Amino acid sequence: MSCKPEHIAIIMDGNGRWAAAHGEPRAVGHRTGVKTATKTFIACHDRGIAHLTLYAFSFANWRRPQEEIDLLMALCQQFVEDNQAQFIERSVRLQVIGDLEELPTATRRAIEAGVDATKNGESMTLTLALGYGGRNDLVGAVRAIAARAQAGLLLPEEIDETSLRSFLTTDALPDPDLVIRTGGEKRLSDFLIFESAYAELFFAELMWPAFDETVLDEAIAAYERRERRYGRTGAQVAASA
Ligand code: FPP
Repeated sequence: MSCKPEHIAIIMDGNGRWAAAHGEPRAVGHRTGVKTATKTFIACHDRGIAHLTLYAFSFANWRRPQEEIDLLMALCQQFVEDNQAQFIERSVRLQVIGDLEELPTATRRAIEAGVDATKNGESMTLTLALGYGGRNDLVGAVRAIAARAQAGLLLPEEIDETSLRSFLTTDALPDPDLVIRTGGEKRLSDFLIFESAYAELFFAELMWPAFDETVLDEAIAAYERRERRYGRTGAQVAASA
């Protein structure tokens, strides 16, 4: 296989451990992590990746100390505001997935303004997962489906993969082809659990602030070497190539 991934999704893990290893407070790890996020969206854009999704703040992250939550919210806002001109210049469309209701008003407004200002971007979509949890997203979709069914607007037999997807906050995105996780852990942590069913997974030992173009290229090259069979045999895949 030699096609580059259309959609890369990244679990940016390891800010805290990177900071500890450098004798710095966790905040320094997160600040450096934001710089890495900026470099990464530029690197993906330069490589013609059509969709990049970054797991910036998970539903489970609401359990962190309030001080750290406040910092992460402020950094999300800063990321969007500081990069807005560059998003527009590069024709990058900013999007968000997740439950934005719980975000502080200033963060939510800044993000909504960024989404609106970049809505005509055509060369890449950059999606921030904020207050996002895959299970939570599925529960929201099931509730919406149940409400429509109860109102007589949807029959059980009309519910299929396509209609279920239309109620997820990821509806506008194609499934990720490649999910990258830094920080050495090998799990999805509730990130795009439905959408990643056939994604290739790439786990990097290094911490997120240390992620760079070399590792990105390694991940893309590993993806390109893998054979995606979607349940078929290798011979079937070869025959249809
Ligand atoms: C995991 O590191 C990272 C996060 C919880 C948040 C990721 C957020 C950023 C990189 C900053 C915001 C980014 C954008 C694009 C706005 P950790 O704190 O769990 O690290 P640890 O596992 O080493 O403690």
